[in-house]
Parts: sequence; C-alpha cells; structure tokens
Amino acid sequence: MADLIDGESIAARLRARVKCEATELAARGTPPGLAVVLVGEDPASQVYVRSKLRRTVEAGMTSFEHRLPTSASQDDLLQLIARLNADDRVDGILVQLPLPGHIDSDLVLDAIDPLKDVDGFHPVNVGRLSAGTGGLIPCTPLGCMMLLDTVIDDFRGLKAVVIGKSNIVGKPVAMLLLERECTVTVTHIATRNLPEIVRGADILVVAAGHAGLVRGDWVKPGAVVIDVGINRIVDGEKRRIVGDVAFDEMDHAGSVTPVPGGVGPMTIACLLENTVRAARRRRAEPMVAGDEAVHAGSA
Ligand code: GUN
Repeated sequence: MADLIDGESIAARLRARVKCEATELAARGTPPGLAVVLVGEDPASQVYVRSKLRRTVEAGMTSFEHRLPTSASQDDLLQLIARLNADDRVDGILVQLPLPGHIDSDLVLDAIDPLKDVDGFHPVNVGRLSAGTGGLIPCTPLGCMMLLDTVIDDFRGLKAVVIGKSNIVGKPVAMLLLERECTVTVTHIATRNLPEIVRGADILVVAAGHAGLVRGDWVKPGAVVIDVGINRIVDGEKRRIVGDVAFDEMDHAGSVTPVPGGVGPMTIACLLENTVRAARRRRAEPMVAGDEAVHAGSA
C-alpha cells in the first residue's frame, strides 16, 4: 500500500509556523498584511477568496478585502493596484483569477509590485524562478515541493515527470524540480506516448485537469505521486471531488497525495508563507532558518 502524504496536517504545521512569524513581526511593529482583490461574482472564486481571507486572519495577519463589480473597468482595477502597491500596510497583493473577459489579466498582473506579488505570477518573479535567483514562488508549486520534501531526502538525479504546462503549476513546478537537479520532463496535451513517459518517473506531478487520467499501470513501483487535480464529478447520486490520478490504482506507488486533502490545503498555507516572506523582505528582516530548502537560491 502506498504511503499517504497528508497535506492537511503538513499545511496545518506550516500555518502554525507562519502564525509564529506573523506574531513576531506584529510585535516589532505591524502584522503582515495581505490584500485580496476579487472582480465579479464567480462562485468558485468567491469560495476561494473567503477561505484565503479567513486563513489570513487566523494566521495573525491583516486582511484587506477589495471586491469590484463585474462591470469594473481595467482602469479601476489598475488604480486599485497602484494604491495597494503604495500602501505600506500591504505586504502581499493577490488578484483572484480568472478576471472578467474585458480585463487583460497579463496587464493587471504586470502592474503588481513584484515585491508584493505573493502569487509569484509577475514576470520578474517568473524570471527569477527560471534563473534560480529567488523571488516569490507560485503557491501551488511551492506546496508541491514542500510535500515532496516530506518523503524525499535527495532529489539529485531523480527522474521527474510533470503532466501539464500551465504557468500556474506545470512550468513553475518543473523549474523547482530542475533547481533540485532532477531530470525533468514536462508533458502536455500534444505529448505522444504519455503512459510510457510516466512509467520512467521517480517523481510524478500531475496538473492536467482531467479526472483519473493517470492509471495504475502508468506508475512505476515506488514512485512519488503528487496529484494537483481538483475535478468535480457526479458519481451515481453523489457529487465528489477527485484528482487527475486514479487513486484506487496507486497501491504500488511509494507515496501519493489524496484529493481532497493533499495539495489543496498547501496552496493557501503557501500563500500565507509567501505573505510573511514578502513582509520580512520588505522590512529587511532576516529569513527564518528552514525556509531556505524550498526557497533555494533566494537572495
Ligand atoms: N485562481 C485559481 N488559482 C489561483 C491562484 O493560485 N491565484 C490566483 N490569484 N487566482 C487563482
């Protein structure tokens, strides 16, 4: 039976550590502050934003909530971002995606101060990640690496396969694995012989958005499997959330993340971690030991 990587308890430990750091920073002046911007009424985004704000407050930080109507113009949003960039109480800015169609997301993300870009989506942070020179790392990939760190001591030379080439997960997680000196293959929708490529993987990170894509006979015995997928399916009478991996077929894997309860809780915990990190950096406070394993290469 594969070992379960318990994202809930790993995320709870991370949140507790972040809370200690936030409390320390608050004692020395101001608590870290996170601004979350939601444009429009997308129900899934509303749920995510609510949990982000709740977790921020629970972690001893200040949350600034900004809701704009769907009709808000791109200029309205850019003006809000300019105000948040200039606001010293705000250490992190997150603009919930997707944005309504009339707003250019790239332009908006580019307008966020890279030092406050807790999503790690600004081109400066993307560039820093690919150059291995620090910066803020996108939350889900950071969470994947923290989960892998609980089961792998030495990444050097391991074969890693990433399924999915998105800017939010696939590409940044590939960069992080490369930084650890894995031999990394990134696969995508046009990849041929996917099962064969996956069979070579010691580490498999799946972010395809396709329920049950990865079957048991694709996975090498002993491999570590990180399932980033969140798919809502109807199973008979019931609605369930499942990952991109056929979880019931993973007995022979070394370790596997469940869905829910694997990568999901890590994403918000890493957002809090990034906010404290941004706060420390903006206030020229030293980083805390133990951070540096995942944030390897940080200046
Ligand atoms: N929408 C879905 N995932 C994310 C994320 O990680 N960050 C932001 N800003 N929006 C999202």
